Amino acid sequence: MPDDAPLLSVRDLRVSFRTFDGQADVLQGVNLDVPRGTRVGLVGESGCGKSVTMKTIMGTLATPPARVTHGQIMFDGQDLLTMPAARRNRLKGTDMSMVFQDPTTSLNPVFRVGHQMEDIVRWSDRRRGIQRNHKARKARVLEVLEMVRLADGERIYDAFPIQLSGGMRQRIIIGMALLNEPRLLIADEPGTALDVTTQDEILRLMDDLVREEGLSLLMITHNLGVVRQMTDHVYVMYAGSVVEDSPTAELFDNPSHPYTKALLACVPKLDGTATYEGIGGSLPDYTDPPAGCRFHPRCPHATDRCLTRPPAFTVRPGHTAACWLHEPEAHA
Ligand SMILES: Nc1ncnc2c1ncn2[C@@H]1O[C@H](COP(=O)(O)OP(=O)(O)OP(=O)(O)O)[C@@H](O)[C@H]1O
Ligand SMILES: [Mg+2]
Repeated sequence: MPDDAPLLSVRDLRVSFRTFDGQADVLQGVNLDVPRGTRVGLVGESGCGKSVTMKTIMGTLATPPARVTHGQIMFDGQDLLTMPAARRNRLKGTDMSMVFQDPTTSLNPVFRVGHQMEDIVRWSDRRRGIQRNHKARKARVLEVLEMVRLADGERIYDAFPIQLSGGMRQRIIIGMALLNEPRLLIADEPGTALDVTTQDEILRLMDDLVREEGLSLLMITHNLGVVRQMTDHVYVMYAGSVVEDSPTAELFDNPSHPYTKALLACVPKLDGTATYEGIGGSLPDYTDPPAGCRFHPRCPHATDRCLTRPPAFTVRPGHTAACWLHEPEAHA
């Protein structure tokens, strides 16, 4: 396994759901890479399939109603979709860990924080076949509370979640994800349940931790500001597939897919040239999606060509756009 191979590599991932209205083909062949030590963003409007992608990677998608119909999820050179369930379960919460958006759903109100954190250590020790006593487990918990910059760890260890502020609870959630020294952290909109100042502190903390601990980060968000602040490379998703991917700075300088352009045009600008146009139309019905490029019914540049699904064309090195406008011959 060469070290420059991505830590996580998703290839042509397709996921469908059985619904009352028929089969919903949600993921339409998602491709994305998280190279080691990098921060990768996955962005797109609500309902485009970000969480389905993340849950499929983590192995937490309920099947049924979901079904993975095709694809590969390579983690450190091994396909998560074909490995034995026991091995995959060992990776979950250890080598790859999740940070959730809403601290209130991830912390149990009736148990002390330290108790809940120690449970995670005990559970993963068992999976890894190691044994630590209470003192050693508590020491690890206190170490992690310090890592997430919570002073007075002993007090927090003994506290109930309700006794702590939202920002402190979010730090604990991040700490819980770090307890087992993961290599990949997957974050689904961390801090969005908080006020903007606290959210900013949480994002900075995550950024510091990624650097200090040498983690790889997959950050899921619909906030382009967060993408700009927190990621090195970004994938833009629309209706179940990646329509553009690029180094982050390049994406903001040179957005190439009509959907990305529309998405950026919705962001208010500091100089007052804000455009609040929004994107006309809405996401397609996944039980009856449009043929070809799923964005074409909303796209100002759509032609008959778009009834055939475009592949990802290279716009610049490291930057692709799945749009016929970028087909090399089109420039000739
Ligand atoms: N259990 C399910 N049954 C049927 N369809 C589902 C199910 N879960 C998700 N979907 C479909 O998948 C689509 C994508 O959902 P997903 O949760 O991945 O969106 P998202 O990009 O994470 O949006 P948000 O930004 O709102 O979190 C939904 O619009 C829905 O049509
Ligand atoms: Mg989501």
